[in-house]
Amino acid sequence: MKEYTSGEVAEILGVTKNTLYAWLKEDKKMPQPDTSRDKKGTRYFTQDQVDQVVRLRGKHIRKVVAVVNQKGGVLKTTTVQTLGHCLADRGQKVLLVDTDPQASLTAAFGLNPDKLQYTLYDLLTNKNLTTDDTIKQTEYENLSIIPSGIDLATIDLKLSSEIGREKKLFNRLKNITADFNWIIIDCPPNFSLMTISALIAADMALIPVECEYFSIKGLQQLINTLDMVKENAEHSFELKMLPTKVDGRTNMGEQVIDHLKKFFGPYLLKSKIRTDAKVTQAQAENKPISVAFPQSRAAVDYRNLTIELLRMYNK
Ligand SMILES: Nc1ncnc2c1ncn2[C@@H]1O[C@H](COP(=O)(O)OP(=O)(O)OP(=O)(O)O)[C@@H](O)[C@H]1O
Ligand SMILES: [Mg+2]
Repeated sequence: MKEYTSGEVAEILGVTKNTLYAWLKEDKKMPQPDTSRDKKGTRYFTQDQVDQVVRLRGKHIRKVVAVVNQKGGVLKTTTVQTLGHCLADRGQKVLLVDTDPQASLTAAFGLNPDKLQYTLYDLLTNKNLTTDDTIKQTEYENLSIIPSGIDLATIDLKLSSEIGREKKLFNRLKNITADFNWIIIDCPPNFSLMTISALIAADMALIPVECEYFSIKGLQQLINTLDMVKENAEHSFELKMLPTKVDGRTNMGEQVIDHLKKFFGPYLLKSKIRTDAKVTQAQAENKPISVAFPQSRAAVDYRNLTIELLRMYNK
């Protein structure tokens, strides 16, 4: 299990070490880290203690993240499922939104789209519904979802004559953003109305990049498309890239990461998600890897991604 020093914990919270020391001293609810390890009295925080500190003193983050890539199978859905669970597990209030008619994210939480009263399609087409009507609590604390269903495949057609249809999702989410720290949107593998709508609602576009081979052309195209959306919608969002399916057995993954650094350095996150067959096994049981195999490679990687994002926005 990774342990954290005071410096690292202070960084996650966006405060100085002295502020953290003062809190530890004054606030009885704060955990007491281990200081017996070395003569300098270095404080070592366990993961649970870090979580407790973040819960007590972390900033109230409000972020909408669209997980997007027109390429299929790059871990968009897995990232939404697992990052969502890891953030919720750290006390963050999280809403996931499934905008893919394939409804893999919905199914990943054991929900059957055919048996749901309302899905995202209803929210976007039925004025009499409120956003709350369509939110389903998952079996995990702090984690809920607006599910998708196959009817979403016809949404482009259904809304084709409506002016401002790309802003509909944004309008439906804006009155509930105050209720959540994170809204994470899973996009389909194309640039349909749903992907554009997700981007217009987002503060960040998180792009999982599969590291099995490198296609600068595909990525550059994706970035150009995102720029075009920004320009046309007059709405800005941050861009972050997450290397995925990094295979530790070959040096291909590291080579791709080197290329990504070279061409897209400012966008690249430090975290990466390694190849891990356990993820598919966990998903077959409708469980995030962080629940089914918390010690597995991918679970560790997603927890690191969670810390990186919390650190970024707690500043
Ligand atoms: N770390 C991992 N290593 C290897 N395979 C993984 C890993 N994480 C997830 N997978 C598997 O990779 C496949 C694709 O993942 P996922 O569905 O998340 O991709 P996606 O980008 O959402 O795909 P789509 O574009 O079809 O929506 C799934 O079968 C999933 O179980
Ligand atoms: Mg998917």
